[in-house]
Amino acid sequence: MTSSKTLTVDDLLKMKRNGEKLAMLTCYDATFAAAMDKADVDIVLVGDSLGMVVQGRTTTVGVSVDEVAYHTACVSRGLKRAFLIADMPFGSFHNESTAMENAVELLGAGGSMVKLEGAGPMVDVVDYLTCRGVPVCGHLGLTPQSVNQLGGFKVQARDDESARRLLQDAQALQHAGARLLVVECIPARLGKEVSAALDIPVIGIGAGVECDGQVLVMHDMLGLGERAPKFVADFMPGSASIQAAFEAYVAAVREKRFPTDRHAY
Ligand code: KIV
Repeated sequence: MTSSKTLTVDDLLKMKRNGEKLAMLTCYDATFAAAMDKADVDIVLVGDSLGMVVQGRTTTVGVSVDEVAYHTACVSRGLKRAFLIADMPFGSFHNESTAMENAVELLGAGGSMVKLEGAGPMVDVVDYLTCRGVPVCGHLGLTPQSVNQLGGFKVQARDDESARRLLQDAQALQHAGARLLVVECIPARLGKEVSAALDIPVIGIGAGVECDGQVLVMHDMLGLGERAPKFVADFMPGSASIQAAFEAYVAAVREKRFPTDRHAY
């Protein structure tokens, strides 16, 4: 779907229904945002990964709402077509009123949706936000804000019981009104199952080619990650420019050439 108008949540849903794969990347400034937009990237995420790739931290914990809001405002100035999501950082959505206040700041900065990690008690937070007009993207599987609790950046939901729990969590988030879901670092067969079970688009990162779309951290797909995880592909070799690398990524996602089995768990 190529058009010059800004994509909406309904457009993303239609693309899933039509079997069109969604290409999503993280972004942190206006110049890269404009290049992604020209390359037809469908969804741009101002991830709290900015804590690692922009600020040089070892985890995403410690990023503030004001910092995500600042980068969201920068990115929004570079976009015309792509749908913009702002990440809610660690500690910014632990109860309903805090989440609402912070989501309002991120939407005010230019985001069209906020993303938050987890299920369980977060399902009520998602319900609270969506009932008050805040579009929400969930995030399950490897949730980097819980890295200290998960004991490191590891593949999640490998056994049947935890896979079943993840699927239930995904359904609960959809029921609570989430309009998009990111699943990170889970077996490819589970990525496929969750995408088939939900009506909303499911975007995978290390979750196999059968998800409704794919997301990567921009620095990783430009080959700048120092120790890139298995699910990352570097799109710079063979691309004459960064713009061309974004175009190559979009084409590979749409044609289901990325991710390959080599990038899957
Ligand atoms: O913060 C981020 O960049 C993310 C993506 C990895 C999905 O959450």
